[in-house]
Amino acid sequence: MTPARHRLPGTEAAPPAGTGPPATTREAGHRAGVPLYGPEFAADPHDLYDRLRRHYGEVAPVELAPGVHAWLVLGYYAALEVLRSPHLYSKDPRTWRALACGEVPADSSVIPMMGYRPNALFSDPPAHDRYRQAIADSLARIDDHVLHTSVARTADRLIASFASRGRADLLIEYAAVLPVLTVNALFGQADDAGPRLVAALAKMFEGGEDAIEGDRLFTRYMIDLIASKRDRPGPDVTSWLMAHPARLSDEEMIHQCTLLIAASAEPVQNLIGNALRLLLADDRFAGDLSGGIMSIEAALEQVLWQEPPMANYAVHYPRRDLVLRGATLRAGDPVVVSLAAANIDPALNPAASRAGNRAHLAFSAGPHACPAKDPARRIATIAIERLLDTLSDVRLTVPATDLQWRMGPFQRALTALPVHFTPVHPPAIGDPTWTPSPLPPAPSASTPPAPTSTARPPASAPPDRPRGWNFRAAFRRGR
Ligand code: HEM
Repeated sequence: MTPARHRLPGTEAAPPAGTGPPATTREAGHRAGVPLYGPEFAADPHDLYDRLRRHYGEVAPVELAPGVHAWLVLGYYAALEVLRSPHLYSKDPRTWRALACGEVPADSSVIPMMGYRPNALFSDPPAHDRYRQAIADSLARIDDHVLHTSVARTADRLIASFASRGRADLLIEYAAVLPVLTVNALFGQADDAGPRLVAALAKMFEGGEDAIEGDRLFTRYMIDLIASKRDRPGPDVTSWLMAHPARLSDEEMIHQCTLLIAASAEPVQNLIGNALRLLLADDRFAGDLSGGIMSIEAALEQVLWQEPPMANYAVHYPRRDLVLRGATLRAGDPVVVSLAAANIDPALNPAASRAGNRAHLAFSAGPHACPAKDPARRIATIAIERLLDTLSDVRLTVPATDLQWRMGPFQRALTALPVHFTPVHPPAIGDPTWTPSPLPPAPSASTPPAPTSTARPPASAPPDRPRGWNFRAAFRRGR
């Protein structure tokens, strides 16, 4: 008899732990997928990954939304096999069988994250090579100093908008907005366009009539962006993309820029949010395991290993019927890589996630691996440094265990990060009346926004935090 603790949510009679169904029956199991949505999964995804692994092995049948079936790859090496085999797996959602035949409705909640658009993420060669090269070459031209000053200035402005209050929601008022404003700046748009982009995306996330208005504002932003850069190119990502030998059309430009916004804002928001949670809640960050101090970079890597911002994504579609680690995949079945589960695969050496090892899959791997790992880390590091430097005694307002996670299969994202601190009055930065409206938490299965800016840090800016600086330790030292 199957013990109750071995039953998986959504299955009537899951097999006992450690055995798993015979490989030949695993195709039928695809119809009885375990839900990757709902409060139970959001509250403790690791528990579900663990039970899926014990019951099914490295590849398990799941449901991404009611009636949306997929395979979830939980094994690290199985994940690498999928990610590095473009000859076996397509990234093009137009090959998704259930969507093509109408079994999955075109308005399903997963479509914003999985539906086709002519961009790098959803393309195979030769289109992918062309888009990817243009994006990678343009991102490579971002000057590290410009990025630093831009993020620091944006961070300071946002902090100034709540610092005197003594409390804030760091997710809604900070982590969700900073990446959007940063992308606005990297795109070469004026500062005043940033709040417009934030507002457009906020409306899009709200749904209903607001979403239509948001969509209109977002389209306007994109058209203005492309038109202004065709007229007056500058030292910015938009102009570099335009000038690239790939010779992208205006329509292709809009799709790649939209991808850059979507692909950056949500993951960076989640990285900042999840790392702040770790820093504020975990005493190990008051001193590392060897009794020293652990840097913000180390906290970020720990999050990338254990709570990667995109928990389950990198969707692939088998080009033909295949057997993967005992699971029979049919051509056009969605195969979702659990970047989160793969990172904690027991087959990996437990020391793998120690500081210095960046072999995690948070940024994926293979030809579609994130082309912005370094800027993403930089943005998050600077954002957290500026915050903790300014609000040195910041504390969670609720116990860490009470923090809520957004529902949905793809992201690992908090809904809010309420904190309190001693009110401070940071020096005026730019226009003191400038306060972009914060983005509300995005719906669980939607596509998000992007970041901004260019400038010098305020004269009074604290010096760069030395590696190994720890805000709690510094606070205790009375800094
Ligand atoms: C912590 C932050 C980030 C994380 C965790 C992250 C993660 C990922 C992952 C997992 C993928 C692969 C998705 C898939 O195959 O379906 C990806 C792709 C991509 N990311 Fe990131 N990303 C981050 C930040 C950024 C930023 C800041 C940008 C741009 C400025 C960016 C641009 C892209 C693009 C363009 C792709 C598609 C690449 C391709 O398909 O060839 N990402 N990212």
